[in-house]
Amino acid sequence: MISKNYSNRLFGRTRGRANKKITLKDYQNIIEKYQFKELKKNNGYILDIGTGYGESSIYLAKKNKNKTIISCEKYIDGNLNLIKNINEQCIDNIKLHSGNVYDVLEKSNKKKFFEFAFILFPDPWPKKKHFKRRLITTNFLRILHHNLSINGQVFIATDSISYTRQILKNIYETKNLYKWINQNQIHLKLLDYFNLKTKFYNKATKLGVEPIFLILKKI
Ligand SMILES: C[S@@+](CC[C@H](N)C(=O)[O-])C[C@H]1O[C@@H](n2cnc3c(N)ncnc32)[C@H](O)[C@@H]1O
Repeated sequence: MISKNYSNRLFGRTRGRANKKITLKDYQNIIEKYQFKELKKNNGYILDIGTGYGESSIYLAKKNKNKTIISCEKYIDGNLNLIKNINEQCIDNIKLHSGNVYDVLEKSNKKKFFEFAFILFPDPWPKKKHFKRRLITTNFLRILHHNLSINGQVFIATDSISYTRQILKNIYETKNLYKWINQNQIHLKLLDYFNLKTKFYNKATKLGVEPIFLILKKI
């Protein structure tokens, strides 16, 4: 059991202006069909954390048709957009957890279900007093490690310099658990690995910021 403390609470918005009209009950009815319920042995799983509008989950589902993508996001507008795209593109290998990734990790219960974990543009929480809200911490990487399969990988993208600094410290502190694969400066570009532009990728590059992409491999 993962103990509930400050760092695994979920902060940030749940709904945007566009969907003020949808009631929580209607939302629950819509997502019911796609809802993540359980993890099964001998299934390949990819954990997609903080999926926003769901671009990464759609991309991963198409690239990995024999695996199930578990998309974790509490943002209602984002999840409704993801469901719209699942239907339009007839995708059948995405399950949605409308909430905190820690709930999924608790269900996984160190059983090493996940081949990959994607964390693309986690909320940067730029103010120092909010750093403790950040998702990625040394403890989080440890918990993730327990739930990754042999040779499992973690992919992280961020455009925040202070978050990058902190993540590098977290990687150092978990150096007995993960090998950081792409340490050379010329190998830090998301698009060199995945042809995937999410909303927050586009936001960063429009401002002229080149995001950092980090790849960790479970030892
Ligand atoms: C900055 S957005 C990035 C969205 C998307 N990955 C992108 O690149 O456009 C970060 C998202 O992570 C979600 N998030 C933050 N903490 C989370 C957690 N513990 N579990 C699941 N989602 C989380 C937030 O709700 C938010 O929508």
